[in-house]
Amino acid sequence: MVDIHSHILHQVDDGSHSLDESIEMCRASADDGIRVMVATPHAHDGKHTTHNPELLNQKVTELNNQLRGIPKIVLGCELRFTHEIVKQICETHTAPTIAGGPYALIEFPHAMVPPGSERPLFELMSNRITPIIAHPERNAMLMDEPNRFYELISLGVLGQMDTGSITGQFGKKVQKAARVMLENGLIHFIASDCHNTRNRLPGMSAAVALTAKIVGEEYARAMADDNPAAVVEGRPIPTCPTATLPQKKRKWLLFG
Ligand SMILES: [Fe+2]
Repeated sequence: MVDIHSHILHQVDDGSHSLDESIEMCRASADDGIRVMVATPHAHDGKHTTHNPELLNQKVTELNNQLRGIPKIVLGCELRFTHEIVKQICETHTAPTIAGGPYALIEFPHAMVPPGSERPLFELMSNRITPIIAHPERNAMLMDEPNRFYELISLGVLGQMDTGSITGQFGKKVQKAARVMLENGLIHFIASDCHNTRNRLPGMSAAVALTAKIVGEEYARAMADDNPAAVVEGRPIPTCPTATLPQKKRKWLLFG
């Protein structure tokens, strides 16, 4: 498997606290069957310092030297959506794309999708960078109105789901939204979004097994392996499900 969302670089955000913890997280990932991890520290989120890619690359090299390729670590970031994303990715280069390729991991603020988001996302695609939206199932607005995410998918953006959303770590409401998005083909990747060795753990296999029960083995495997591998290698993703518009549940069904 390939994990495209992780906070394994130490002392750069709210992820790993030390090199030892980073090594422990990566080894646990390898034991779980992960062969490549993308380190995605928070960038331009107003909470954490946005480190320059040169420093982050030094940390990646340090980690790779310790791990000797098991798993292999490459750099990306989790870029907080603002109307500046095109400038940050394509002009000032303060937000690295995944492994320097044509995909960028972008997260919306937790409560909502900012109005007018389509334009910068579309502009990014005009610059040949495909936005991957991090954990849409945990966004309060998209949780209630997954049809809004369908509209973004229709534009050409892709969706990444957190393992914890599938296993229920973030609560029933998130788990339900995750299921709706999976069933409607709005998700292209599963990733750990691991932060530490205590409560935001590395590893994907348990969530992939649960996902397989919902959408079948083939699609679940594609989201954890073939699709993220293509992202890291800068290729088009091999499995792109047909997206369908999530239907609003009629009230009487809730009691039925
Ligand atoms: Fe994250």
